[in-house]
Amino acid sequence: MRLMAVIVVDHPLAKHLLSNLRDKTTSTAAFRHMSRALSAMIILEATRSMGLEPWTVETPVQETTESQLSQGLAIVPVLRAGLGMMESALDLFPDVAVGYVGLERDETTAIARSYYTKLPDLRNRYTICVDPMLATGGSASQALSVCKSAGANPLVYACIIAAPEGIDKVEGDHPDVPIYAAAVDSHLNDHKYIVPGLGDFGDRLFGTA
Ligand code: PRP
Ligand code: URA
Repeated sequence: MRLMAVIVVDHPLAKHLLSNLRDKTTSTAAFRHMSRALSAMIILEATRSMGLEPWTVETPVQETTESQLSQGLAIVPVLRAGLGMMESALDLFPDVAVGYVGLERDETTAIARSYYTKLPDLRNRYTICVDPMLATGGSASQALSVCKSAGANPLVYACIIAAPEGIDKVEGDHPDVPIYAAAVDSHLNDHKYIVPGLGDFGDRLFGTA
C-alpha cells in the first residue's frame, strides 16, 4: 500500500468539531461556527513550516532579540466553499493576501469548470490553497496549477476532509504540494461524494441545501 503524504490534524478538539460538522442535524449557524474553528486549527498546522527571522524589540524591561515571520502569506480559497476556511486565515493572519479561484463541479460528471480567477502575485509568498472537500481532486489539481502559474512558492493545500481518490490525484499532479486535512475518509460514492463525508459543504455553509 502506498503511504499517502497527508498531514492529519488529529487534536481531540479537531475530531470533536469534525464530528459535529458531519452530523446532518447541525444547524447552519453551528456549522459556520465550527467550520471556522476547525479551519483555524488546520491553517495553524499548514503554516507550521513558515520561516522566521530575528527581530529586536524593546520590552518595558530591556531590549531582546525575538522572531518575526520572514515571508508574506497568501490564502487562495476555491469558491465557494473555500471561503469558510479563508475567514479563519484572516483571523489568524490579518495581513494575508487573498486570491480567488472559482470552480464548480458539474453535477453529473463531477468535472470542475473554472468561472473566475483573481490572484495577486504569489511569488515569494507562502501560499495556502484552501477548499474543505478533496473528493476526486479535480478542483484541487486545477486550483494548484493556477496558484503555481502565479508563482506560489512554497505552496500547500489545506482541506477539512480528503478522500483517497483526491489525495492520489493531487499527489500525482502536484507531488511537491503537501496536503493538510482533519480527516482522510473511506471512498467516494457513485455521485463522487465523500463517504462518510458531511454532504455538500458549500450548501451547508451557505444555507442553500
Ligand atoms: C465542492 C468542494 C470542492 C469540490 C471538490 O465544490 O468545495 O471545490 O466540490 O470536488 P472534487 O475534488 O471532485 O473536484 P462545488 O463544486 O460543489 O462548488 P461550491 O463550493 O460552489 O459548492
Ligand atoms: N463536494 C462536497 O461538498 N462534498 C463532497 O462530498 C464532495 C464534493
